[in-house]
Amino acid sequence: MLALVTGGNGMLAGDLVPILEDEGYEVLTCDIEDFDLCEEDAVREYILGAKPDLIIHTAGYTDVEQAEAEPELAMKVNGLGTKYVAQVAAELDVPLVYISSDYVFDGEKNVQYMPDDTPNPLNVYGKSKLVGEKYVQELCKKHYIVRTSWLYGTYGKNFVQTMLERKDVEEIKVVNDQIGSPTWTIDLAEGIITVLDMPYGTYHISGSGKCSWYEFACEIFSCVGAAVKVIPATSAEVPQKAKRPAFSSLKSSIKTKNWKESLKNYLYICDLEVD
Ligand SMILES: NC(=O)c1ccc[n+]([C@@H]2O[C@H](COP(=O)([O-])OP(=O)(O)OC[C@H]3O[C@@H](n4cnc5c(N)ncnc54)[C@H](OP(=O)(O)O)[C@@H]3O)[C@@H](O)[C@H]2O)c1
Repeated sequence: MLALVTGGNGMLAGDLVPILEDEGYEVLTCDIEDFDLCEEDAVREYILGAKPDLIIHTAGYTDVEQAEAEPELAMKVNGLGTKYVAQVAAELDVPLVYISSDYVFDGEKNVQYMPDDTPNPLNVYGKSKLVGEKYVQELCKKHYIVRTSWLYGTYGKNFVQTMLERKDVEEIKVVNDQIGSPTWTIDLAEGIITVLDMPYGTYHISGSGKCSWYEFACEIFSCVGAAVKVIPATSAEVPQKAKRPAFSSLKSSIKTKNWKESLKNYLYICDLEVD
C-alpha cells in the first residue's frame, strides 16, 4: 500500500511518515522541489506517475500572518493546489486525506466546534483552507477532511518552539483572549491512522481540553522550569495582521490526550521537561 504524503518537508509530515511506515505503508513524500501545487499539469503528472493507493495532503501555505499580504498566493496554494490534488485522487479513485484548520471557524461559538458546524473564516489563511475543503468535498468522494489546531512538533516552526527560544527573557506578553486546543503532531499523526479506518467525511483531531495562548505559554515555561513572567494581553495589545477567532477549540472526533499531557510528552522527548 503506497501512501503519498505532500508537504514532505513540513512539520506534520516529519512525524506522520514514520508512523505510516510503522503501520506497514510504503511512503513516498514530495514537496515543492517535486512539484509546485500552483501548477496543475505538474501536480497531475507527478501523482499519476507515483500511482499511490492513498494521498495525505499536508502541504499548504501555512503562514497565517503573511497570507494577509499574499492573499492570491495563499488561495492558489491552499485552494487551487488542493483542487488539483483532489482531481487526481478522484481520477485514480484513491482516498485523499486533506489537513484543514480550526481557522475555518469565526470563533463566535463558546462551546467546542463540531465537524458539521458552519465555517465562516475571518482571515485569508482560513478562507483559503475552506476553499480547499470545498474542492475536496466536491471532487473526491473518497475523502477525509481532518481539521486540526495550534499544531506543534519537532520538525517545524511553532508556538512551543517560539516560547522555548524566549525561556531566558524576564517577561513576555502573550494573548489571553484567543482560546484553542494545542495539538502535538504525533497525536495528529496517530489520529490520522485511526480515522483511515472510519467512514469518509470530515473529522476534528486536536488535543483534548482548551486554553488561551497565555495559559499555553505559562504551561510551557512551567514544564521546563523557566522563570519567565508571562503577562496576559488582549489581541488589541499585540496587534497582528490576520484576525484570529476568539474561540476555535475543536471537539476531537476521536479520543486524544489532554493538551497538557501531550505537551509534557513532547518536552520529555525533547529532553526539556523538568518535573
Ligand atoms: N501549523 C498549524 O498550527 C496548523 C494548524 C491547523 C492546520 N494546519 C494544516 O496542517 C497542514 C500541515 O501543517 P504543517 O505545520 O506541517 O505545515 P508546514 O510545516 O508549513 O509544511 C507545509 C509544507 O508545504 C510546502 N508547500 C508550501 N507551498 C507549496 C507549494 N506551492 N507547492 C508544494 N508544496 C508547498 C512547504 O514547503 P516550503 O517549506 O518549501 O514552503 C512545506 O514543506 C497544513 O495543511 C496546515 O494548513 C496547520
